[in-house]
Amino acid sequence: MPAIPRKPIHTVGDAELLNMSLPHKIDWESFYARGKRTPPFLRNIPDENLVEWFEQGRFKPGNAVDLGCGIGRNAIYLAKAGCRVDAIDLSETAIEKARSLANEAGVSVNFIVGSIFDGPLTENRYDFAYDGGLLHHLQPHRRPYYLDLVRGALKPDGVFGMTCFDTSAGVPKEDWEIYEEGSMPSGIGYSEARLRRILQHFFEIIEFRSMKVQSEDSGLFGMEGLWAILMSPLYS
Ligand SMILES: C[S@@+](CC[C@H](N)C(=O)[O-])C[C@H]1O[C@@H](n2cnc3c(N)ncnc32)[C@H](O)[C@@H]1O
Repeated sequence: MPAIPRKPIHTVGDAELLNMSLPHKIDWESFYARGKRTPPFLRNIPDENLVEWFEQGRFKPGNAVDLGCGIGRNAIYLAKAGCRVDAIDLSETAIEKARSLANEAGVSVNFIVGSIFDGPLTENRYDFAYDGGLLHHLQPHRRPYYLDLVRGALKPDGVFGMTCFDTSAGVPKEDWEIYEEGSMPSGIGYSEARLRRILQHFFEIIEFRSMKVQSEDSGLFGMEGLWAILMSPLYS
C-alpha cells in the first residue's frame, strides 16, 4: 500500500487520502485494455432511460457531461441529440475506443482522460449531467464529495440522470461493513430507500424507477438490476 500522506483533513478533497486505505476494487485501465470480458455496457448503444428522458423533453440539448463515460455510448447519443458534450473517464483505452466510435458516428465529443475528482468539472456549466454506473463503484467516503461536485457543475435549472446497481446486481454491503472488511466490493448494491437517503442531501428526485429490460435488437441498453434516477439540484 502507498504511504498515506501526513496531512490533516480540512476539506472534502483532503478526505481523498482515505482512498489509500480503501482502494478501488477495479483497475479500469486493465479492465478495458484486457478487453476479454464483454459486459453489456461495452456495446455502443445508449441507455433506454437516457433516450426516454431526452424524448420526453426532461432535459434540453445544451451543455452535457458524461461522468465515467467508458466507451462513450451515452456521450455519443447526447452529441447526436444536439448537446455539446464533455465525457470523462479514468481509462485511456476506453477513451481511445470512445473517440473512434464518435468519429464513426460523425459526432464531436470533448473526451477527457482523468478522474472526475481531479478537477475536470467546471462550476455552473452543465444543463445535463449523466452517470451511467459510476456511483456504485465509488468508495462510500467519496459519495458526498462526488454528489457535491456534480451539483456544483450543474446550472441551477440543470438535471442529473443516473443508473446505479440495485441490491440484486451489486453487493448490498453497508458502508460500515465495507470499512470493517477493508475491501471495496466490485459494485455496491443500493436499495431504493438507501439511495434516496443518500441523494436527498443534494438532489430532489424527479423520477426513480428500475431500468427497463430491452431486447437484443432494440438498439437500446436496458437490463435488470439497475435503478434509473432523474434529479434536480437542491441547495441548502
Ligand atoms: C461501469 S463503467 C460504466 C461506463 C459507461 N458509463 C457506460 O455506461 O457504458 C464505470 C466507468 O467509470 C469510470 N470511472 C471510475 N472511477 C472514475 C473516476 N474517478 N473518474 C472518471 N471515471 C471513472 C471507469 O473507468 C468506467 O469506465
